[in-house]
Amino acid sequence: MPLLISEKLVTWYLQAHRNLPWRKTKDPYKIWISEVILQQTRVEQGLPYYHSFIKKYPNVKSLATAPLQKVLKQWQGLGYYSRARNLHQAAKQIVEENKGKFPTEFDDLLKLKGIGQYTAAAIASFAFDKPQAVVDGNVMRVLSRLFAVSLPVNSTAGINFFRKKADAVLDMTKPSLHNQAMMELGALICKPVNPLCVECVLNKDCKAFQTGKVSRFPVKEKKSPPEVISLHFLIITKSDELMIYQRNGKGIWKGLFEFPSLEKKGKVKWKAAEARSKLLEIGISKFSIKTNHDEINHLLSHRTIWASFSFVNASQVNLKKAESAGYKLIRKKDLKKYPIHRLMEKIVSLAGIEIN
Ligand code: ADE
Repeated sequence: MPLLISEKLVTWYLQAHRNLPWRKTKDPYKIWISEVILQQTRVEQGLPYYHSFIKKYPNVKSLATAPLQKVLKQWQGLGYYSRARNLHQAAKQIVEENKGKFPTEFDDLLKLKGIGQYTAAAIASFAFDKPQAVVDGNVMRVLSRLFAVSLPVNSTAGINFFRKKADAVLDMTKPSLHNQAMMELGALICKPVNPLCVECVLNKDCKAFQTGKVSRFPVKEKKSPPEVISLHFLIITKSDELMIYQRNGKGIWKGLFEFPSLEKKGKVKWKAAEARSKLLEIGISKFSIKTNHDEINHLLSHRTIWASFSFVNASQVNLKKAESAGYKLIRKKDLKKYPIHRLMEKIVSLAGIEIN
């Protein structure tokens, strides 16, 4: 009888896999943290974040009881801060609703904030050996080539189809090994560009390889281009103090700190009068201003930001007005205590402000 796909995969994995810390544990908490980090970062970049996060918050309880702002600070540099907020909230859910015990069932894991099908399947299979197939970008790429699937990997129909395919090839007797092997094949062999098909244990089963069409898969649907916005930051100082505020609303930077800023759709040239009226709104009427003319381009998954900044030397600040509008003056050396987003890090660095 020919070897099943899963058997070949697992045999390959056992001798070829990378030695990664989250593969040596069955602790659902550590697996969860690793998966959330790895959703947005490559393994080599994610490793130091994984180690420092686990060191600071070694279990659900320590994460649940930490102040959100500290957790965001720990996440700084990884981006996608909503994931850190969700981790914190889900940890609270586990402590408050489940006495700190991690749910073991796929359906119960799905009820936790921020845990979707992928993460629930990863935790259920890696930590508890439940027969759930994981489906992420790596897995869809492998399956799309293996079965020469033309449905786009970024469409609902495509994702649903790949979930069914992933279930069909899953070895129910060793879901954890099978899933790790599938992801590892995607990461090491069935790579997005220059895949190593000649070395691949599945090349005889791979429809795309057998028909010489590997480069046509996976198929991706064209998405609309990212929205363009302009942001102008006002770096307001008053002797050794700096003005910052905390983003609220619904955006991805919610809860993070920034310099006061002006925002417009499209790529715009800011007028001095616009900066002046913003300063008045903050309660600053006496100041000198010097604009930096660097154009800073910052790409997010859904938008392109053109950023710029001005230095504002305030000689008088109406603190009541500033504070009631959500702004606060802090010591320059305290800026490092506040969680900030990547673009803000760039601005801080370009402006020559030392924060470490
Ligand atoms: N990417 C996402 N999850 C992963 C895992 N568990 N191991 C390696 N790479 C991954």
